[in-house]
Amino acid sequence: MLRVLVNGAAGKMGRSMSAGILAEEDMQLVAAVDQCCLGADLGELCGSGRCGVAVEADLAAAIEKSQPDVMLDFTVPAAVMDNLRVAQTHKLAAVVGTTGLTKENLEELRASCEKSGAPVFVASNFALGAVLLMRFAAEAARYLPEYEVLEIHNERKLDAPSGTALTTLNMMEAQRLEDSVGAANTRESVPGCRGGAYAGSHVHSLRLPGAVAIQEVIFGAPGQMLSLRHEATARDCFYPGVALALRKIKELKGLTLGLEHLL
Ligand SMILES: NC(=O)c1ccc[n+]([C@@H]2O[C@H](COP(=O)([O-])OP(=O)(O)OC[C@H]3O[C@@H](n4cnc5c(N)ncnc54)[C@H](O)[C@@H]3O)[C@@H](O)[C@H]2O)c1
Repeated sequence: MLRVLVNGAAGKMGRSMSAGILAEEDMQLVAAVDQCCLGADLGELCGSGRCGVAVEADLAAAIEKSQPDVMLDFTVPAAVMDNLRVAQTHKLAAVVGTTGLTKENLEELRASCEKSGAPVFVASNFALGAVLLMRFAAEAARYLPEYEVLEIHNERKLDAPSGTALTTLNMMEAQRLEDSVGAANTRESVPGCRGGAYAGSHVHSLRLPGAVAIQEVIFGAPGQMLSLRHEATARDCFYPGVALALRKIKELKGLTLGLEHLL
């Protein structure tokens, strides 16, 4: 039985992932941490019926009391590193979906994992379709060096661009055989309308109510265009990837980035 602590349990992802974990026969949800909904029963919060696990605020106390095998973190960019430092201090493995980790954060994690021996798995996107989109986009970038990325999320998302857009652009830049010529002569009469420059391309972040997560990579070449698009229509699409990472975390060593390493 895999003992799971969910951090950010009362959030949109936390509730959705908790519902999945509570339905598993080989997993036990042993603790729920969040800054809101304190004292509420997590099963009732996520629509699975009473489960006897109350939401609590103190991560270190929750770890010590519940003795989990792994922490699942879907919190906020401003909190995730502190959460991971606490998990590392307790030599607790972690699966992280929270986005917004910087290169410096990842370097710190890599070093601390080596020291503690507790593995950390981070994926900017747990949806299989989005992982395939990244792989296909990287392959297409070898032959089509002119492309831009569009990502659409709901208006409450705290970071922009999305972690998936940055990962996709890094993977594409690593594969492309030629640099983009771009559109150097374009003058922006509205600042920012060409999007943000990143990894030799441009990324455009839309934030609109109703959106879960959409990413499109648009390629252009003389006489042809190619679009690769992934749309998450419900948060359930993230659960199979999360469950896979939870089940595999103990086999991993150090810091692992990206669901593609588990497929
Ligand atoms: N990797 C993926 O596949 C994937 C998919 C969707 C969302 N995300 C990311 O997951 C994160 C959460 O997304 P969401 O839509 O559930 O957001 P949300 O705002 O609904 O939930 C975040 C939760 O974290 C809680 N929180 C804040 N600070 C905390 C702390 N210090 N300790 C514990 N809990 C704390 C909040 O109270 C809230 O309940 C975001 O970073 C989002 O970009 C990743």
